[in-house]
Amino acid sequence: MDLGDEKIEESAGYASKLERGYSVTPWQVTGVVDYNKIVKDFGTRLITPEIIEKLQKFSGIIHPLLSRGFFFSHRDLDLVLDAYGNGENFYLYTGRGPSGHVHMGHLMPWFFTKFLQDTFGSRLLFQITDDEKFLYSQHLSLQEVEKYAYDNILDVIAMGFDPKLTRIIIDTKNIQTLYPLYLEIAKRLTFSTAKAVFGYKPSSNIGMIGFPAIQAAPCFLPSLIEKKPTRVLIPAAIDQDPYWRITRDIAEKMGYYKPAQVHSKFVPSLELNGKMSSSRPTGAIFTTDDPETIESKISGAYTGGQPSVGLQRMLGGDPDACPVFWYLSHFFDDGKDSFERSLKCRTGNLLCGECKSDLTTQTKLFMSEFTRRRDQAKNQVDSFLYEENPFD
Ligand code: TYM
Repeated sequence: MDLGDEKIEESAGYASKLERGYSVTPWQVTGVVDYNKIVKDFGTRLITPEIIEKLQKFSGIIHPLLSRGFFFSHRDLDLVLDAYGNGENFYLYTGRGPSGHVHMGHLMPWFFTKFLQDTFGSRLLFQITDDEKFLYSQHLSLQEVEKYAYDNILDVIAMGFDPKLTRIIIDTKNIQTLYPLYLEIAKRLTFSTAKAVFGYKPSSNIGMIGFPAIQAAPCFLPSLIEKKPTRVLIPAAIDQDPYWRITRDIAEKMGYYKPAQVHSKFVPSLELNGKMSSSRPTGAIFTTDDPETIESKISGAYTGGQPSVGLQRMLGGDPDACPVFWYLSHFFDDGKDSFERSLKCRTGNLLCGECKSDLTTQTKLFMSEFTRRRDQAKNQVDSFLYEENPFD
């Protein structure tokens, strides 16, 4: 993000330490993220085979995003699963900051959220932080953010979340619901904590400084809706973790469970390094891209291949360093296809052009179906919006 990045990057607290070789904040990811190290740096826990097995008992399958290690870290996922086994339901909570169109990176945590909703029949609160994107952006007006909020809601609905179990909270529209919780949270968080965690500076605007309490509020809303302490599980990429860390610190003092998390890695950019991000649109595939744009972005993608066909045949490529392979393996190929593809690539029996062509075909197919669902979503928006007594 613009203003936020510039202001926050240099001095950010635990979430951003470039001397570690990477920096991860809710606003920007730079460097090569070492996911084993981030678990130590952030104080989260790796998802173990035991936890995967616990989850499999309820779902019957091991979700590919778990077997491939894309969801890799958690806080209290085991507690949520154990409690569910003992008859205690939980809410899911996730969200989107509407600063532009949705790209394929954003969809990943939402696929997993849908899988969890389907498995556990959980109610889902989906927060749209239009306030955040206005406050942290140098160039977006409130009206522009509102436009993206509506546009992004179509993507959320197109994911196929259950309309009876899902409510979308738009911060500026649902502020009456969030505000009492915001106050209780904000009163318990000091500026020095917010500064240490998010790296605020004297020049940060005062809206930015208060915002984390707004993103924390839906962690406790389920307890108010259910009129009893209710567990919440948040699927998101690890960049959002700073919010949950400060929320967990105050949860029990407020009489709530600490919110649990399941963290994903980042979907890479189609260009060289870094995560897929709206700020680098040529490396990102948006759900609003037309087939020609998809084709041209994939054709310009970085690969793990050699500079010439001859060298590729002779030396083979490196699928581990290839975003095209990454996309195919995480979105489209099954485990067997992916293994065969990587073997053929390493032995020089597959050219980058072939992988790009496969990815283009699959992505276009996926997006044409997604576009159809987005169009249908236009008639469903009202039934997803959060209202008082949201699930009655
Ligand atoms: P936002 O809009 O930046 O991102 C939305 C979701 O997408 C994840 N994400 C990614 N996941 C994988 N690969 C990527 N390249 C990638 N880029 C983004 C984010 O982790 C997030 O899960 N402040 C939040 C909005 C929010 C929220 C929440 C997110 C409000 N409440 C609760 C998660 C959970 C934001 O701006 O997300």
